[in-house]
Amino acid sequence: MPTSKLVNTLLAPENHVAVECLDLHREFQDGSRVIRVLQGTNLKVDRGEFVAIVGASGSGKTTLLNLIGGLDRPTSGTILVDGDSITELDDERMSEVRRHKIGVLFQDQHLLPIFTALENVEVPMLLDDIPQKERRERAIKLLETVFVDHRAEHMPHELSGGMRSRVALARALANDPAVLLCDEPTGDLDHKTGGEIIQLMRDLAKNQNRAVIAATHDPETARMADRILLLRDGVLVDELVGDFFKHSKVDVSTRKSDERADEGTSTAE
Ligand SMILES: Nc1ncnc2c1ncn2[C@@H]1O[C@H](COP(=O)(O)OP(=O)(O)O)[C@@H](O)[C@H]1O
Ligand SMILES: [Mg+2]
Repeated sequence: MPTSKLVNTLLAPENHVAVECLDLHREFQDGSRVIRVLQGTNLKVDRGEFVAIVGASGSGKTTLLNLIGGLDRPTSGTILVDGDSITELDDERMSEVRRHKIGVLFQDQHLLPIFTALENVEVPMLLDDIPQKERRERAIKLLETVFVDHRAEHMPHELSGGMRSRVALARALANDPAVLLCDEPTGDLDHKTGGEIIQLMRDLAKNQNRAVIAATHDPETARMADRILLLRDGVLVDELVGDFFKHSKVDVSTRKSDERADEGTSTAE
């Protein structure tokens, strides 16, 4: 991290709010039927926090991430990203916020197949006219951050699923976002590889002071988070999380993983 950035980070007020959703509603029209997905959702995530959003399939997790990421607009309600309301922005300013403040990691990583790993990480920087040399250096550093720099010149199809996820994570960080949104980040990865990606995401929150929000139905992902929120009936709640996982047949502690680390045992088998 450059010195100036480090100083800013250290001077930043503690608990700096990165994302705030206030009374979000999102409805979809399906023929004559109205599907009410989000019905007054509230959420506040600080920089440095890793939050997991769980919920049944179709409960609206992706819808919520799309709204925070500026890929979709709410029917009503307000979204603040890094202190600025994004809800009223026109498309051009919205895409600027998306480029500079928000990184997105999808389950199927959407890497461009004709570009190398390194070039894929450079793509988001192209729009900002960053000189080629600087672009390349930053991309290599980002690949180092996610421990995949030794595969910089490989094409996506030459990489394992875990490595592709790492490259996609590096690309999501290309423009140094305050917020990292991950939709089912471990969906198609094996247990061990998925665990490594989640540990990386947690490190990115803690060491780089980003807000990381992951939508997941994977209990292993959720148990690494600082907070687990359940999306149910269009709102986020934290007190029902235990119930949700009981029905998922896996017990998940909502305690911080730092506390759990002391026990030396895993609570989810
Ligand atoms: N563009 C859309 N048009 C109509 N319905 C949608 C659209 N996007 C999502 N939905 C509906 O919203 C609900 C929530 O979907 P989604 O956010 O994908 O849930 P999750 O990610 O939790 O599985 C689903 O019923 C889905 O069919
Ligand atoms: Mg989804």
